[in-house]
Amino acid sequence: MLRSTLLMIFLVVVPQQGPMRSPSAGDGPNYMANGELKMPERYREWIFLTSGVDMSYSPNAAMAGHSMFDNVFVNPSAYRVFQETGTWPNKTTLVLEVRGAEGASSINKRGHTQSQEVMGMEVHVKDARLEGGWGFYEFDGAGSAKVVKRPAGCYECHEGHAAVDTTFVQFYPTLLGLAKTKGTLSPAYLKEMGAAAGSK
Ligand code: HEC
Repeated sequence: MLRSTLLMIFLVVVPQQGPMRSPSAGDGPNYMANGELKMPERYREWIFLTSGVDMSYSPNAAMAGHSMFDNVFVNPSAYRVFQETGTWPNKTTLVLEVRGAEGASSINKRGHTQSQEVMGMEVHVKDARLEGGWGFYEFDGAGSAKVVKRPAGCYECHEGHAAVDTTFVQFYPTLLGLAKTKGTLSPAYLKEMGAAAGSK
């Protein structure tokens, strides 16, 4: 009797955990009770946007001299909406992962490959509950991170120079053409491009 009761509980309880944890809530941001953002665990299965090599934009000048790659990923549901609209929906989550650039190893004699070790992780989330509609998060190995408070260089640079809705779509080759077609390029970016091209 006890055994069958336990079995019943097992059967009833366990299958219910699936739907609760499964991505029925989507692939968007997950927050802790204290408001911190949980590190998106499966971002390596998301849509790949670009790799930048030795881009210099970080206020962290101490990194200068180290050769680095950054890899950018976005959650698939947001990518699909971008395909339709040329801009990001609420709950868009973009991950920038930094890896070291390594020299000759195995059969590689020239150029660079990426380190197994992740040297840094930054996340940009679109969430209507946040001031300005977007928040930045810097992960330092911990499983969750606090939102970067305004004012901060992250917001200034992204709001002042990024091509679409504070994201650097000018460097994401599969998205820039779409944004042009859909007319979603930011005024700041258009102005910058206009200035660069002379009087246009
Ligand atoms: C001086 C300009 C500048 C500053 C300051 C800056 N970024 Fe960025 N950020 C960039 C550029 C340029 C890219 C595009 C990277 C690429 O093409 O690989 C980018 C991309 C990103 C992305 C990928 C998604 C997106 O929005 O395009 C994240 C996440 C990100 N930055 C986080 C941060 C965080 C966190 C900070 C503050 C600690 C920060 N950034 C500060 C210029 C900046």
